[in-house]
Amino acid sequence: MNYYFAPMEGLTGYIYRNAHKAFFNNIDKYFSPFIVANQSERFKTKELNDVLPENNQGIVLIPQILTNNAKDFIHTSKKLKFLGYNEINLNLGCPSGTVVSKNRGSGFLAKREELDAFLDEIFSESITSISVKTRIGKDRCEEFYDLIEIFNKYPIKELIIHPRIQKDFYKNKPNMKIFNDALVLSKNPVCYNGDIFTLKDYKGFSTDFPGVDSLMIGRGLIANPGMVSLIESNIKLNKNSLKDFHDKIYEDYKRVLFGDRNVLCKMKELWLYMIPMFTDNAKYAKKIKKANRLSDYEEAVSSLFREQDV
Ligand SMILES: Cc1cc2nc3c(=O)[nH]c(=O)nc-3n(C[C@H](O)[C@H](O)[C@H](O)COP(=O)(O)O)c2cc1C
Repeated sequence: MNYYFAPMEGLTGYIYRNAHKAFFNNIDKYFSPFIVANQSERFKTKELNDVLPENNQGIVLIPQILTNNAKDFIHTSKKLKFLGYNEINLNLGCPSGTVVSKNRGSGFLAKREELDAFLDEIFSESITSISVKTRIGKDRCEEFYDLIEIFNKYPIKELIIHPRIQKDFYKNKPNMKIFNDALVLSKNPVCYNGDIFTLKDYKGFSTDFPGVDSLMIGRGLIANPGMVSLIESNIKLNKNSLKDFHDKIYEDYKRVLFGDRNVLCKMKELWLYMIPMFTDNAKYAKKIKKANRLSDYEEAVSSLFREQDV
């Protein structure tokens, strides 16, 4: 199985990615949170830092672009190619209202003629190979049958399917019937993404879909960064390693972010996913959430690691 770390805006930037690589070293590809391609000649500092080769040494990183404008995709691709990237991922999955209202992300899935013309233009340029991360529709899952005909016209390096529609956000269950049809209908290689949170989920998926050899995991990996070691080698996450992993991310955020508030904000978002792994975690979750100073945060995290198990 090839394991991909899903792009997660605010969570899987280069600080997290480097720590994950250093501690776990079992991810085949990391995908960057989306870069909004626009007319500007230059990347925003945050976006550039995230994809700079010196910030991603030894890591296979696939930068992701969010746009519905082919010219913007192309000139952003050229800049990424210049940095050394040979594959770019197109975001056709983001369900957020502000993105969808501009017909981007999963909003673009409802504009099928425009999407077809967009893909035609970006694939004609062939600056890098292009993979696509998509939902199965905007309003109805049956939209997927029109979408796959469009996708099949282009040499997509990999079609990464999160089988929900935009309207689901992260609710309901992934539609495995449509995913199964995608495997039959797609002329391009397919990767699965969605709701793999436990070893049991993984085993169920690989039993049902033995032919799928690429799996992208997001929230499950943030919750248990050692999930792939568990799947592949039955190695359970060790509390001390998790503490070291946490400390590395925390120290690196303190080094690069301006102000304690920003550091706390980043760490608190991670804990939303990680805290359920701990026994009897409610009291600690509350303390972490309420921490306004680094010292309060450190005390809350230390007591959690000291007093509870994973
Ligand atoms: C906080 C958050 C941020 C995300 N940011 C991105 C993003 O930048 N690009 C993208 O394609 N998907 C993004 N996603 C979607 C994930 O990549 C993934 O498709 C989704 O979480 C489903 O996979 P999972 O069930 O393994 O988490 C984001 C999801 C979450 C919860």
